[in-house]
Amino acid sequence: MECIDNIREVFINFGRDHFDEKNVTQLNHALQCAYLAEKENSTPALITASLLHDIGHLINENARSSIEHGIDAEHEEKAAEFLMPWFGDDVLCPIRWHVDAKRYLTATDPEYFSLLSEGSVKSLEVQGGPFSKKEVREFEKIPYFEDAVKLRRWDEQAKSPSKATPPLEHFVTYIHQSVKT
Ligand SMILES: [Fe+2]
Repeated sequence: MECIDNIREVFINFGRDHFDEKNVTQLNHALQCAYLAEKENSTPALITASLLHDIGHLINENARSSIEHGIDAEHEEKAAEFLMPWFGDDVLCPIRWHVDAKRYLTATDPEYFSLLSEGSVKSLEVQGGPFSKKEVREFEKIPYFEDAVKLRRWDEQAKSPSKATPPLEHFVTYIHQSVKT
C-alpha cells in the first residue's frame, strides 16, 4: 500500500534523528506515543495519529532547528498536509491540534506545565504560549479536540530513553485500519 510504504520510508530514513530529548530518537518517540494510545484502548485512528503526530519533523529537516531559532515551523500542519491523501479527520485533526492542545493544557491544567520537557517549554513560547480563556472555549468546540488533548498527554510521556515498545510493524495494522476508503 502506497501510504504504508511512504510512512515506512520516512521512519527508515529519518527515524534515527534525535528528538528534543537526548537519547530519544524520533522513531522511539513515535512508538512510545502509539504504545501509550494502544494501552488505553484507543481507536485505530487515534493510535495512528499518535504514531504519526511528529512526522512533520521528519519530512522537514528544518523544523527542529527553526524552533531553536525562535521560528515556528508548524510541523503539525506539515504532517497533516503530508498525510491528507490517505487519512480522514479522525487521524488528521488530533495531529493538527496537538500543538494547540499543549497551549490548551497549559492554560487549564496547572499540573501539566510541570510535566513539560525542557524542549516543550521552549517550543511553547515560540508556539504562542498558554491559551487565553476565550481561546480555551474556542478550542473545546473543535472536532476531535479531546483526542488531540489525549495525544498531547501521551506525547509528554513518550520521551523515555529506555522504554521498550513493540516495533513499527506492530502498528502498521492500525494504519491499515485507519486509511480512508
Ligand atoms: Fe511529539
